Amino acid sequence: MHKIERPIIFSSSSSQVSNRFLGLVSQSCAVAYNMKRSVLKCPPELLLRQVSTKHCGQQRLGNELYLRSPPSTSILAGKICSSSAFQRRHFKAAFCTELGKPLSLGLKESSELCSGEVRIQVAAVGINFSDLLMVKGEYQVKLSPPFTPGGEMSGTILEVADDVHNFKPGMKVLGLCSAYGAFAEEVVTTCNAIWEMPSSMSFKEAAGFVCSYGTAMMGLSRRANLQHKENVLVTAAAGAAGLAAVDIASNVFGCNVFGAAGSDEKCSLVKSYGAKETINYRNESLRDKMKKICPQGANVIFDAVGGSAFKDSLRSIAWEGRLIVVGFASGEIPQIPANHLLVKNVSAVGLFWGAYSMANLDVFRWSVDECLKHYIKGQLKPHVCATYGFSKINQAFQFIQSRKSTGKVVVEIRD
Ligand SMILES: NC(=O)c1ccc[n+]([C@@H]2O[C@H](COP(=O)([O-])OP(=O)(O)OC[C@H]3O[C@@H](n4cnc5c(N)ncnc54)[C@H](OP(=O)(O)O)[C@@H]3O)[C@@H](O)[C@H]2O)c1
Repeated sequence: MHKIERPIIFSSSSSQVSNRFLGLVSQSCAVAYNMKRSVLKCPPELLLRQVSTKHCGQQRLGNELYLRSPPSTSILAGKICSSSAFQRRHFKAAFCTELGKPLSLGLKESSELCSGEVRIQVAAVGINFSDLLMVKGEYQVKLSPPFTPGGEMSGTILEVADDVHNFKPGMKVLGLCSAYGAFAEEVVTTCNAIWEMPSSMSFKEAAGFVCSYGTAMMGLSRRANLQHKENVLVTAAAGAAGLAAVDIASNVFGCNVFGAAGSDEKCSLVKSYGAKETINYRNESLRDKMKKICPQGANVIFDAVGGSAFKDSLRSIAWEGRLIVVGFASGEIPQIPANHLLVKNVSAVGLFWGAYSMANLDVFRWSVDECLKHYIKGQLKPHVCATYGFSKINQAFQFIQSRKSTGKVVVEIRD
């Protein structure tokens, strides 16, 4: 049983800050090097940029990577732009104080806003696979403890920097934390990484929407150019990214979706999201079942598992099929025999959704705008399988780890 420890205050002295800052510079180089060098062990959901380019970020201990700043404000980088309302205070946050160990709750100190940033009172946080890896030190973006994990959240804007005009205090928003740190009562992030919440969406639904739906939309629509009525095979179809892909392919594109998942319960859920057929790949062969239920093969495959699920899926692809490489939840990075691509004119496409936040911000924002548009029309239905209170955060992580979760698991920071 993981006990939440007595609150500790994580604060900074100036010498700690400068040491930290120097550490960050070398850390960012290591991150960039690792990312370039490796076929990413598990593609990151968020591509983040090092805070050393933004001097005002020195006050933020622990979380040091940033999404791209707004182009219009880049000349202001380094300038503190907090409104006059800023008051330094302490708030509750979860800390990874040692990699691989349970998180503990402590107090964190608020910092002033930089250009393009907003301060959010966090309501709920969606847990991502990357959070699990990050607190174990197994993610390709490596943060040194103590740090506050958490990449996506929903909440209410408390304050905006002077140069932010499209968001106002009091607005309910959902989005990403440009420097992680979402498991906290308060977070600062760039206005590029947040969206206004539709009025029909709850904080709980909103907390887990952006990453899985944004990824699924980017993969299916932009990377695979999915067309109405095509056959789509989704592996880990009840998982966060997988179920979003099933939802979008079935209910936005009107495709014939075949969902593969690891239990009968998961398969039922996938079917309830519009899948035509499901395959429980724990007790039946994906390849054999696909031959039976989809003899013409899948036009598009959305694979977040890797390993044998990937290999079997590739065998089930149609002529001119598109295979989207989304992730490696199995921990095994598969190899693609080039002859398999050649004989059926198949395209294998990589997907690193978060990277669009730096490479093409418009496309990045489009991926979420598009999902929100369909959500508002009632076509999409984000699934939250379990909600935990802030003090039960370690149980929430364990639940995902146990492979029993479906859709998203959410931690409620405030009711
Ligand atoms: N490329 C991108 O931009 C991007 C964006 C988001 C996520 N991802 C990646 O996609 C993968 C899935 O993410 P997610 O958020 O959907 O995670 P998730 O909700 O935890 O789903 C992962 C699912 O993978 C399946 N799985 C198969 N083998 C597994 C194993 N050995 N251990 C654990 N799970 C296993 C499980 O479903 P079954 O029991 O049904 O097999 C599990 O529920 C991760 O690798 C993540 O990093 C990539």
